[in-house]
Amino acid sequence: LLLSLLFLALLWRSRSKQSQPSRLPPGPAPWPFVGSLLHVDLKQPYRSYLKLSQQYGPVFTVWLGSKPVVVLSGYRTLRDAFVSQGEEFSGRANYPILQKVTDGYGVLVSSGDRWKELRRFSIMTLKNFGMGRRSIEERIQEEAKCLVNAFAEHGDSAFNPKFLLCNAVSNVVCSIVFGKRFDYHDSQFKSLLNVIDNYFTFLSSSRGQLYNMFPRVFERLPGPHHLALGGVRRLRELIREEALRRLGDLNADEPRDYIEAFLVKMQEEKHNPNSTFNYDNLTSSVWNLFSAGTETTSSTLRHTLLLMQKYPNVQARIQKEIDEVIGPLRSPTAQDRQNMPYTDAVVHEIQRSLDLSPTSVPHKVLKDTEFKGYTIPQGTMVIPLLSSVLSDPELWKHPDTFDPENFLDEKGSFKKNDAFLAFGLDSGKRVCLGEGLARMELFLFFTSLLQKFTFTGTEPPEQIETNPQYCSFGRMPRTYQCYARLRA
Ligand code: HEM
Repeated sequence: LLLSLLFLALLWRSRSKQSQPSRLPPGPAPWPFVGSLLHVDLKQPYRSYLKLSQQYGPVFTVWLGSKPVVVLSGYRTLRDAFVSQGEEFSGRANYPILQKVTDGYGVLVSSGDRWKELRRFSIMTLKNFGMGRRSIEERIQEEAKCLVNAFAEHGDSAFNPKFLLCNAVSNVVCSIVFGKRFDYHDSQFKSLLNVIDNYFTFLSSSRGQLYNMFPRVFERLPGPHHLALGGVRRLRELIREEALRRLGDLNADEPRDYIEAFLVKMQEEKHNPNSTFNYDNLTSSVWNLFSAGTETTSSTLRHTLLLMQKYPNVQARIQKEIDEVIGPLRSPTAQDRQNMPYTDAVVHEIQRSLDLSPTSVPHKVLKDTEFKGYTIPQGTMVIPLLSSVLSDPELWKHPDTFDPENFLDEKGSFKKNDAFLAFGLDSGKRVCLGEGLARMELFLFFTSLLQKFTFTGTEPPEQIETNPQYCSFGRMPRTYQCYARLRA
Protein backbone atom coordinates (compact mmCIF):
# COMPACT_ATOMS: atom_id res chain seq x y z
CA LEU A 1 0.00 0.00 0.00
CA LEU A 2 2.83 2.36 0.95
CA LEU A 3 4.66 1.68 -2.29
CA SER A 4 1.48 2.37 -4.27
CA LEU A 5 0.98 5.65 -2.40
CA LEU A 6 4.57 6.65 -3.06
CA PHE A 7 4.17 5.79 -6.73
CA LEU A 8 0.98 7.90 -6.96
CA ALA A 9 2.70 10.82 -5.18
CA LEU A 10 5.64 10.67 -7.60
CA LEU A 11 3.27 10.53 -10.55
CA TRP A 12 1.30 13.53 -9.20
CA ARG A 13 4.50 15.44 -8.63
CA SER A 14 5.86 14.90 -12.12
CA ARG A 15 2.44 15.73 -13.63
CA SER A 16 2.15 18.91 -11.54
CA LYS A 17 5.66 19.86 -12.63
CA GLN A 18 4.53 19.65 -16.26
CA SER A 19 1.19 21.34 -15.68
CA GLN A 20 2.54 24.23 -13.52
CA PRO A 21 1.54 27.54 -15.05
CA SER A 22 4.58 27.94 -17.27
CA ARG A 23 5.14 31.59 -16.38
CA LEU A 24 5.13 31.19 -12.59
CA PRO A 25 8.74 31.62 -11.33
CA PRO A 26 10.75 28.37 -11.07
CA GLY A 27 11.21 26.38 -7.88
CA PRO A 28 11.29 22.86 -6.48
CA ALA A 29 8.36 20.73 -7.68
CA PRO A 30 5.74 20.36 -4.93
CA TRP A 31 4.66 17.09 -3.31
CA PRO A 32 0.96 16.32 -3.00
CA PHE A 33 -0.66 17.76 0.13
CA VAL A 34 2.66 18.91 1.73
CA GLY A 35 3.88 21.17 -1.10
CA SER A 36 7.49 22.27 -0.50
CA LEU A 37 7.59 21.02 3.09
CA LEU A 38 10.58 18.78 2.32
CA HIS A 39 12.60 21.74 1.02
CA VAL A 40 11.91 24.11 3.88
CA ASP A 41 13.39 23.91 7.37
CA LEU A 42 10.41 24.91 9.49
CA LYS A 43 12.64 26.08 12.33
CA GLN A 44 14.28 28.67 10.09
CA PRO A 45 12.49 28.88 6.74
CA TYR A 46 14.35 32.04 5.73
CA ARG A 47 17.59 30.01 5.63
CA SER A 48 16.01 27.50 3.26
CA TYR A 49 14.79 30.38 1.09
CA LEU A 50 18.31 31.86 1.02
CA LYS A 51 19.61 28.49 -0.22
CA LEU A 52 16.83 28.08 -2.78
CA SER A 53 17.52 31.56 -4.15
CA GLN A 54 21.08 30.44 -4.91
CA GLN A 55 19.66 27.55 -6.92
CA TYR A 56 16.66 29.20 -8.60
CA GLY A 57 17.59 32.90 -8.68
CA PRO A 58 16.12 35.97 -6.97
CA VAL A 59 12.49 35.17 -7.89
CA PHE A 60 11.26 31.64 -7.18
CA THR A 61 8.19 29.67 -6.15
CA VAL A 62 7.65 27.39 -3.16
CA TRP A 63 4.36 25.71 -2.21
CA LEU A 64 2.54 26.17 1.07
CA GLY A 65 0.50 22.95 0.93
CA SER A 66 -1.24 23.33 -2.43
CA LYS A 67 -0.76 27.11 -2.74
CA PRO A 68 2.12 28.74 -4.62
CA VAL A 69 4.16 31.35 -2.77
CA VAL A 70 6.57 33.60 -4.65
CA VAL A 71 9.75 34.50 -2.76
CA LEU A 72 11.73 37.62 -3.73
CA SER A 73 15.34 38.02 -2.69
CA GLY A 74 18.03 40.69 -3.09
CA TYR A 75 17.88 44.47 -2.82
CA ARG A 76 17.29 45.20 -6.54
CA THR A 77 14.48 42.64 -6.81
CA LEU A 78 12.74 43.93 -3.68
CA ARG A 79 12.95 47.53 -4.88
CA ASP A 80 11.67 46.61 -8.34
CA ALA A 81 8.67 44.86 -6.81
CA PHE A 82 7.71 46.91 -3.74
CA VAL A 83 8.72 50.36 -4.96
CA SER A 84 8.59 50.37 -8.80
CA GLN A 85 5.49 48.11 -8.90
CA GLY A 86 4.41 49.02 -5.37
CA GLU A 87 0.68 49.21 -6.05
CA GLU A 88 0.44 45.66 -7.47
CA PHE A 89 2.54 44.19 -4.64
CA SER A 90 0.83 46.12 -1.84
CA GLY A 91 -1.77 43.48 -0.87
CA ARG A 92 -1.51 41.55 2.38
CA ALA A 93 -1.56 37.75 2.04
CA ASN A 94 -4.09 35.56 3.80
CA TYR A 95 -1.57 34.22 6.27
CA PRO A 96 -3.65 31.77 8.37
CA ILE A 97 -2.25 32.70 11.81
CA LEU A 98 -2.78 36.42 11.19
CA GLN A 99 -6.23 35.80 9.70
CA LYS A 100 -7.29 33.60 12.60
CA VAL A 101 -6.71 36.27 15.25
CA THR A 102 -8.07 39.21 13.24
CA ASP A 103 -10.83 37.60 11.13
CA GLY A 104 -9.26 39.51 8.25
CA TYR A 105 -9.89 42.96 9.80
CA GLY A 106 -7.47 45.70 10.84
CA VAL A 107 -4.66 47.69 9.29
CA LEU A 108 -2.09 44.88 9.25
CA VAL A 109 -4.07 42.30 7.26
CA SER A 110 -6.33 44.47 5.09
CA SER A 111 -5.70 45.21 1.42
CA GLY A 112 -6.89 47.72 -1.16
CA ASP A 113 -9.00 50.77 -0.25
CA ARG A 114 -9.88 49.56 3.26
CA TRP A 115 -6.18 49.18 4.11
CA LYS A 116 -5.36 52.62 2.64
CA GLU A 117 -8.04 54.27 4.81
CA LEU A 118 -6.97 52.44 7.97
CA ARG A 119 -3.28 53.13 7.35
CA ARG A 120 -3.87 56.84 6.71
CA PHE A 121 -6.04 57.09 9.83
CA SER A 122 -3.54 55.17 12.00
CA ILE A 123 -0.53 57.22 10.90
CA MET A 124 -2.40 60.47 11.46
CA THR A 125 -3.70 59.40 14.86
CA LEU A 126 -0.31 58.14 16.04
CA LYS A 127 1.04 61.53 15.07
CA ASN A 128 -1.75 63.50 16.78
CA PHE A 129 -1.67 61.59 20.02
CA GLY A 130 2.07 61.19 19.96
CA MET A 131 3.47 64.46 18.80
CA GLY A 132 0.59 66.71 19.84
CA ARG A 133 -0.38 67.57 23.39
CA ARG A 134 2.49 65.92 25.24
CA SER A 135 5.21 64.94 22.84
CA ILE A 136 5.97 61.28 22.32
CA GLU A 137 9.56 62.08 23.19
CA GLU A 138 8.53 63.30 26.65
CA ARG A 139 6.45 60.18 27.19
CA ILE A 140 9.36 57.91 26.31
CA GLN A 141 11.70 59.94 28.53
CA GLU A 142 9.29 59.59 31.47
CA GLU A 143 8.85 55.89 30.83
CA ALA A 144 12.63 55.46 30.60
CA LYS A 145 12.94 56.98 34.09
CA CYS A 146 10.42 54.46 35.45
CA LEU A 147 12.36 51.65 33.75
CA VAL A 148 15.67 52.83 35.21
CA ASN A 149 14.10 52.86 38.71
CA ALA A 150 12.66 49.39 38.22
CA PHE A 151 16.07 48.05 37.10
CA ALA A 152 17.76 49.75 40.06
CA GLU A 153 15.41 47.92 42.46
CA HIS A 154 17.25 44.70 41.58
CA GLY A 155 20.43 46.06 43.15
CA ASP A 156 23.25 43.54 42.93
CA SER A 157 21.04 40.59 42.06
CA ALA A 158 20.76 39.00 38.62
CA PHE A 159 17.32 39.35 37.01
CA ASN A 160 15.48 38.69 33.76
CA PRO A 161 14.74 42.08 32.12
CA LYS A 162 12.24 40.70 29.59
CA PHE A 163 8.99 41.63 31.29
CA LEU A 164 10.13 45.10 32.42
CA LEU A 165 11.29 45.97 28.89
CA CYS A 166 7.98 44.72 27.47
CA ASN A 167 5.95 46.73 29.96
CA ALA A 168 7.94 49.92 29.40
CA VAL A 169 7.77 49.74 25.60
CA SER A 170 4.13 48.74 25.69
CA ASN A 171 3.29 51.70 27.92
CA VAL A 172 4.36 54.09 25.17
CA VAL A 173 1.98 52.60 22.61
CA CYS A 174 -0.71 52.12 25.30
CA SER A 175 -0.61 55.83 26.10
CA ILE A 176 -1.44 56.53 22.45
CA VAL A 177 -3.96 53.74 21.92
CA PHE A 178 -5.66 53.43 25.35
CA GLY A 179 -4.72 56.85 26.74
CA LYS A 180 -2.89 55.42 29.78
CA ARG A 181 0.17 53.57 31.00
CA PHE A 182 0.21 50.53 33.28
CA ASP A 183 2.18 50.05 36.49
CA TYR A 184 4.92 47.41 36.33
CA HIS A 185 3.22 45.61 39.24
CA ASP A 186 -0.20 45.47 37.54
CA SER A 187 -0.81 41.73 37.32
CA GLN A 188 -3.78 42.07 34.96
CA PHE A 189 -1.66 43.97 32.45
CA LYS A 190 1.07 41.40 32.88
CA SER A 191 -1.38 38.72 31.73
CA LEU A 192 -2.14 40.79 28.59
CA LEU A 193 1.59 41.01 27.87
CA ASN A 194 1.74 37.23 28.28
CA VAL A 195 -0.92 36.89 25.58
CA ILE A 196 1.31 38.85 23.18
CA ASP A 197 4.35 36.82 24.18
CA ASN A 198 2.57 33.46 23.72
CA TYR A 199 1.28 34.56 20.36
CA PHE A 200 4.63 35.71 18.96
CA THR A 201 6.39 32.64 20.38
CA PHE A 202 3.91 30.41 18.56
CA LEU A 203 4.15 32.52 15.39
CA SER A 204 7.94 32.20 15.41
CA SER A 205 8.07 28.47 16.17
CA SER A 206 8.11 25.61 13.67
CA ARG A 207 4.62 24.63 14.88
CA GLY A 208 3.44 28.06 13.77
CA GLN A 209 4.79 27.35 10.29
CA LEU A 210 3.01 24.01 10.23
CA TYR A 211 -0.22 25.68 11.35
CA ASN A 212 0.08 28.04 8.39
CA MET A 213 0.32 25.09 6.02
CA PHE A 214 -2.53 23.07 7.50
CA PRO A 215 -4.75 25.41 9.50
CA ARG A 216 -7.88 23.23 9.18
CA VAL A 217 -6.07 20.13 10.44
CA PHE A 218 -4.55 22.01 13.37
CA GLU A 219 -7.91 23.47 14.35
CA ARG A 220 -9.10 19.96 15.13
CA LEU A 221 -6.02 18.92 17.08
CA PRO A 222 -5.18 19.76 20.69
CA GLY A 223 -1.98 21.80 21.23
CA PRO A 224 -0.42 25.12 22.26
CA HIS A 225 -1.98 26.94 19.30
CA HIS A 226 -5.35 27.02 21.11
CA LEU A 227 -3.78 28.87 24.03
CA ALA A 228 -1.82 31.27 21.80
CA LEU A 229 -4.61 32.09 19.36
CA GLY A 230 -7.50 31.88 21.86
CA GLY A 231 -5.69 34.38 24.10
CA VAL A 232 -5.62 36.95 21.31
CA ARG A 233 -9.30 36.46 20.55
CA ARG A 234 -10.15 37.11 24.21
CA LEU A 235 -7.91 40.17 24.19
CA ARG A 236 -9.78 41.53 21.17
CA GLU A 237 -13.05 41.07 23.07
CA LEU A 238 -11.59 43.13 25.94
CA ILE A 239 -10.68 45.88 23.45
CA ARG A 240 -14.22 45.83 22.12
CA GLU A 241 -15.66 46.12 25.65
CA GLU A 242 -13.31 49.03 26.36
CA ALA A 243 -14.52 50.77 23.18
CA LEU A 244 -18.17 50.26 24.17
CA ARG A 245 -17.46 51.68 27.64
CA ARG A 246 -15.96 54.80 26.06
CA LEU A 247 -19.12 55.50 24.06
CA GLY A 248 -20.86 56.81 27.20
CA ASP A 249 -18.65 59.87 27.71
CA LEU A 250 -17.24 60.33 24.22
CA ASN A 251 -16.44 63.94 23.38
CA ALA A 252 -16.38 64.16 19.58
CA ASP A 253 -14.45 67.46 19.70
CA GLU A 254 -11.72 66.11 21.88
CA PRO A 255 -10.97 62.38 21.51
CA ARG A 256 -8.32 61.38 24.04
CA ASP A 257 -6.68 58.44 22.30
CA TYR A 258 -6.72 56.16 19.23
CA ILE A 259 -9.84 54.26 20.39
CA GLU A 260 -11.85 57.46 20.88
CA ALA A 261 -10.64 58.95 17.58
CA PHE A 262 -11.81 55.75 15.87
CA LEU A 263 -15.23 55.91 17.60
CA VAL A 264 -15.65 59.52 16.47
CA LYS A 265 -14.92 58.44 12.90
CA MET A 266 -17.49 55.63 13.29
CA GLN A 267 -20.12 58.14 14.38
CA GLU A 268 -19.32 60.44 11.48
CA GLU A 269 -19.80 57.57 9.05
CA LYS A 270 -22.72 55.83 10.79
CA HIS A 271 -25.02 56.23 7.75
CA ASN A 272 -22.54 54.52 5.44
CA PRO A 273 -23.15 50.72 5.64
CA ASN A 274 -19.84 50.08 3.82
CA SER A 275 -17.74 52.26 6.08
CA THR A 276 -14.29 50.95 7.01
CA PHE A 277 -14.81 52.42 10.46
CA ASN A 278 -16.61 49.63 12.33
CA TYR A 279 -16.00 47.63 15.51
CA ASP A 280 -14.20 44.79 13.71
CA ASN A 281 -11.61 47.11 12.20
CA LEU A 282 -11.36 49.02 15.48
CA THR A 283 -10.58 45.97 17.64
CA SER A 284 -8.17 44.42 15.12
CA SER A 285 -6.30 47.66 14.41
CA VAL A 286 -5.89 48.32 18.14
CA TRP A 287 -4.60 44.75 18.54
CA ASN A 288 -2.19 45.31 15.60
CA LEU A 289 -0.74 48.48 17.11
CA PHE A 290 -0.66 47.14 20.66
CA SER A 291 1.06 43.86 19.72
CA ALA A 292 3.39 45.08 16.94
CA GLY A 293 4.23 48.13 19.04
CA THR A 294 5.13 45.97 22.04
CA GLU A 295 6.83 42.81 20.83
CA THR A 296 9.13 44.14 18.11
CA THR A 297 10.74 46.99 20.01
CA SER A 298 10.98 45.20 23.35
CA SER A 299 12.55 42.11 21.73
CA THR A 300 15.10 44.36 20.04
CA LEU A 301 15.95 46.01 23.37
CA ARG A 302 16.26 42.61 25.06
CA HIS A 303 18.72 41.55 22.38
CA THR A 304 20.52 44.89 22.71
CA LEU A 305 21.24 44.35 26.40
CA LEU A 306 22.48 40.82 25.68
CA LEU A 307 24.90 42.18 23.07
CA MET A 308 26.19 44.72 25.59
CA GLN A 309 27.07 41.82 27.91
CA LYS A 310 28.75 39.98 25.06
CA TYR A 311 30.71 43.03 23.81
CA PRO A 312 31.81 45.06 26.87
CA ASN A 313 34.10 47.22 24.68
CA VAL A 314 31.14 48.38 22.59
CA GLN A 315 29.22 49.11 25.79
CA ALA A 316 32.12 51.15 27.20
CA ARG A 317 32.47 53.16 23.98
CA ILE A 318 28.76 54.03 23.99
CA GLN A 319 28.96 55.08 27.64
CA LYS A 320 31.90 57.33 26.77
CA GLU A 321 29.82 58.96 24.04
CA ILE A 322 26.88 59.35 26.44
CA ASP A 323 29.13 60.96 29.05
CA GLU A 324 30.56 63.40 26.51
CA VAL A 325 27.32 64.40 24.79
CA ILE A 326 24.61 63.99 27.45
CA GLY A 327 26.45 63.79 30.76
CA PRO A 328 25.23 61.91 33.83
CA LEU A 329 22.16 63.95 34.78
CA ARG A 330 19.94 65.16 31.98
CA SER A 331 17.61 62.82 30.07
CA PRO A 332 18.74 61.78 26.59
CA THR A 333 16.78 63.48 23.79
CA ALA A 334 16.06 62.41 20.22
CA GLN A 335 18.21 65.35 19.07
CA ASP A 336 21.28 63.82 20.78
CA ARG A 337 21.41 61.07 18.18
CA GLN A 338 22.92 63.46 15.63
CA ASN A 339 25.90 64.01 17.91
CA MET A 340 26.33 60.35 18.77
CA PRO A 341 27.42 58.58 15.57
CA TYR A 342 28.82 55.54 17.34
CA THR A 343 25.64 54.88 19.35
CA ASP A 344 23.55 55.47 16.24
CA ALA A 345 25.67 52.96 14.33
CA VAL A 346 25.35 50.39 17.13
CA VAL A 347 21.53 50.67 17.22
CA HIS A 348 21.37 50.18 13.43
CA GLU A 349 23.82 47.29 13.55
CA ILE A 350 21.84 45.58 16.31
CA GLN A 351 18.74 45.70 14.14
CA ARG A 352 20.61 44.58 11.01
CA SER A 353 22.31 41.63 12.68
CA LEU A 354 19.22 40.62 14.66
CA ASP A 355 17.15 40.51 11.44
CA LEU A 356 13.99 40.42 13.55
CA SER A 357 11.62 39.91 10.64
CA PRO A 358 13.56 37.83 8.07
CA THR A 359 10.59 37.22 5.79
CA SER A 360 8.74 40.44 6.67
CA VAL A 361 4.93 40.13 6.79
CA PRO A 362 3.83 38.31 3.63
CA HIS A 363 2.29 40.41 0.86
CA LYS A 364 0.08 39.35 -2.05
CA VAL A 365 -0.30 40.69 -5.57
CA LEU A 366 -3.58 42.50 -6.13
CA LYS A 367 -3.86 41.47 -9.81
CA ASP A 368 -2.11 39.22 -12.33
CA THR A 369 1.36 40.75 -12.28
CA GLU A 370 4.13 40.61 -14.85
CA PHE A 371 7.46 40.59 -13.03
CA LYS A 372 10.94 39.80 -14.39
CA GLY A 373 9.47 37.78 -17.25
CA TYR A 374 7.08 35.73 -15.07
CA THR A 375 3.35 36.06 -14.42
CA ILE A 376 2.31 36.00 -10.79
CA PRO A 377 -1.43 35.23 -10.58
CA GLN A 378 -3.69 37.63 -8.65
CA GLY A 379 -3.86 36.82 -4.93
CA THR A 380 -0.55 34.88 -4.83
CA MET A 381 1.38 35.26 -1.57
CA VAL A 382 4.70 37.09 -2.01
CA ILE A 383 7.47 36.88 0.59
CA PRO A 384 10.01 39.73 0.70
CA LEU A 385 13.16 38.00 1.93
CA LEU A 386 14.53 40.92 3.97
CA SER A 387 17.24 38.62 5.29
CA SER A 388 18.79 38.35 1.83
CA VAL A 389 19.43 42.10 1.87
CA LEU A 390 20.44 42.49 5.51
CA SER A 391 23.15 39.83 5.12
CA ASP A 392 24.23 40.45 1.51
CA PRO A 393 28.07 40.36 1.37
CA GLU A 394 28.03 42.84 -1.50
CA LEU A 395 26.16 45.43 0.55
CA TRP A 396 27.85 45.11 3.95
CA LYS A 397 31.48 45.12 5.00
CA HIS A 398 30.88 42.53 7.72
CA PRO A 399 27.58 40.79 6.84
CA ASP A 400 27.81 37.81 9.21
CA THR A 401 29.06 39.35 12.42
CA PHE A 402 27.85 42.04 14.79
CA ASP A 403 30.07 44.99 13.81
CA PRO A 404 29.05 48.67 14.18
CA GLU A 405 31.66 49.46 11.48
CA ASN A 406 28.93 48.49 9.01
CA PHE A 407 27.42 51.92 9.70
CA LEU A 408 30.55 54.03 10.16
CA ASP A 409 32.82 55.69 7.60
CA GLU A 410 36.60 56.12 7.89
CA LYS A 411 36.18 59.31 9.92
CA GLY A 412 33.86 57.64 12.42
CA SER A 413 30.76 59.46 11.14
CA PHE A 414 27.45 57.63 10.82
CA LYS A 415 27.11 56.09 7.35
CA LYS A 416 23.58 55.55 6.04
CA ASN A 417 23.00 52.40 3.99
CA ASP A 418 19.82 52.07 1.88
CA ALA A 419 19.99 48.32 2.31
CA PHE A 420 18.97 48.70 5.97
CA LEU A 421 15.50 47.15 5.52
CA ALA A 422 14.68 46.14 9.09
CA PHE A 423 11.33 47.98 8.80
CA GLY A 424 10.61 46.93 5.20
CA LEU A 425 11.34 49.12 2.18
CA ASP A 426 11.41 52.75 3.27
CA SER A 427 9.72 53.99 0.12
CA GLY A 428 7.55 50.88 -0.15
CA LYS A 429 3.85 51.36 0.45
CA ARG A 430 3.60 49.00 3.42
CA VAL A 431 6.75 49.98 5.27
CA CYS A 432 6.29 49.62 9.05
CA LEU A 433 3.97 52.37 10.19
CA GLY A 434 5.55 52.46 13.65
CA GLU A 435 9.09 52.98 12.32
CA GLY A 436 9.52 56.55 13.62
CA LEU A 437 8.16 55.61 17.04
CA ALA A 438 10.29 52.46 17.26
CA ARG A 439 13.50 54.26 16.29
CA MET A 440 12.92 56.94 18.93
CA GLU A 441 12.13 54.35 21.58
CA LEU A 442 15.20 52.25 20.80
CA PHE A 443 17.52 55.24 21.04
CA LEU A 444 16.00 56.81 24.15
CA PHE A 445 15.50 53.62 26.19
CA PHE A 446 18.94 52.32 25.25
CA THR A 447 20.85 55.50 26.08
CA SER A 448 18.84 56.07 29.29
CA LEU A 449 19.77 52.58 30.50
CA LEU A 450 23.45 52.82 29.57
CA GLN A 451 23.69 56.27 31.11
CA LYS A 452 22.87 54.72 34.50
CA PHE A 453 23.96 51.07 34.32
CA THR A 454 26.66 48.74 33.09
CA PHE A 455 25.26 45.38 32.02
CA THR A 456 27.06 42.12 32.69
CA GLY A 457 25.99 38.53 32.20
CA THR A 458 25.85 35.60 34.58
CA GLU A 459 28.64 33.96 32.54
CA PRO A 460 31.79 35.39 30.91
CA PRO A 461 31.28 37.31 27.63
CA GLU A 462 32.91 34.64 25.45
CA GLN A 463 30.38 32.05 26.68
CA ILE A 464 27.32 34.21 26.08
CA GLU A 465 25.19 32.82 23.26
CA THR A 466 23.45 35.53 21.23
CA ASN A 467 21.70 33.53 18.50
CA PRO A 468 17.94 34.08 18.67
CA GLN A 469 15.82 31.42 20.34
CA TYR A 470 13.14 31.07 17.65
CA CYS A 471 13.82 31.83 14.02
CA SER A 472 10.83 31.31 11.78
CA PHE A 473 8.35 34.19 11.28
CA GLY A 474 10.36 36.32 13.67
CA ARG A 475 13.88 35.82 15.03
CA MET A 476 12.96 36.07 18.70
CA PRO A 477 15.90 36.85 20.98
CA ARG A 478 16.80 34.73 23.98
CA THR A 479 15.69 35.33 27.52
CA TYR A 480 18.45 35.52 30.11
CA GLN A 481 19.44 36.75 33.55
CA CYS A 482 21.78 39.73 33.81
CA TYR A 483 23.21 42.24 36.27
CA ALA A 484 22.52 45.96 35.93
CA ARG A 485 25.24 47.66 38.01
CA LEU A 486 24.76 51.35 38.77
CA ARG A 487 27.56 53.42 37.27
CA ALA A 488 29.64 55.60 39.55
C1 HEM B 1 4.67 46.42 9.57
C2 HEM B 1 9.13 45.77 11.41
C3 HEM B 1 7.88 48.43 15.31
C4 HEM B 1 3.33 48.67 13.67
C5 HEM B 1 5.99 46.05 9.73
C6 HEM B 1 6.76 45.29 8.76
C7 HEM B 1 8.00 45.12 9.27
C8 HEM B 1 8.03 45.76 10.56
C9 HEM B 1 9.18 44.36 8.62
C10 HEM B 1 6.22 44.75 7.44
C11 HEM B 1 6.44 45.70 6.29
C12 HEM B 1 5.81 45.17 5.02
O1 HEM B 1 4.71 44.63 5.04
O2 HEM B 1 6.42 45.29 3.96
C13 HEM B 1 9.16 46.42 12.64
C14 HEM B 1 10.32 46.47 13.51
C15 HEM B 1 9.97 47.22 14.61
C16 HEM B 1 8.59 47.63 14.42
C17 HEM B 1 11.67 45.80 13.22
C18 HEM B 1 10.76 47.61 15.84
C19 HEM B 1 11.99 47.32 16.09
C20 HEM B 1 6.54 48.77 15.19
C21 HEM B 1 5.81 49.61 16.10
C22 HEM B 1 4.51 49.65 15.64
C23 HEM B 1 4.45 48.86 14.43
C24 HEM B 1 6.39 50.31 17.34
C25 HEM B 1 3.31 50.38 16.20
C26 HEM B 1 3.21 51.43 16.81
C27 HEM B 1 3.30 48.06 12.44
C28 HEM B 1 2.10 47.93 11.63
C29 HEM B 1 2.49 47.31 10.43
C30 HEM B 1 3.93 47.05 10.55
C31 HEM B 1 0.69 48.36 12.03
C32 HEM B 1 1.61 46.98 9.24
C33 HEM B 1 1.66 48.13 8.24
C34 HEM B 1 0.78 47.89 7.03
O3 HEM B 1 0.40 46.77 6.77
O4 HEM B 1 0.49 48.88 6.35
N1 HEM B 1 6.80 46.33 10.82
N2 HEM B 1 8.14 47.11 13.24
N3 HEM B 1 5.70 48.35 14.19
N4 HEM B 1 4.37 47.52 11.76
FE1 HEM B 1 6.27 47.41 12.44
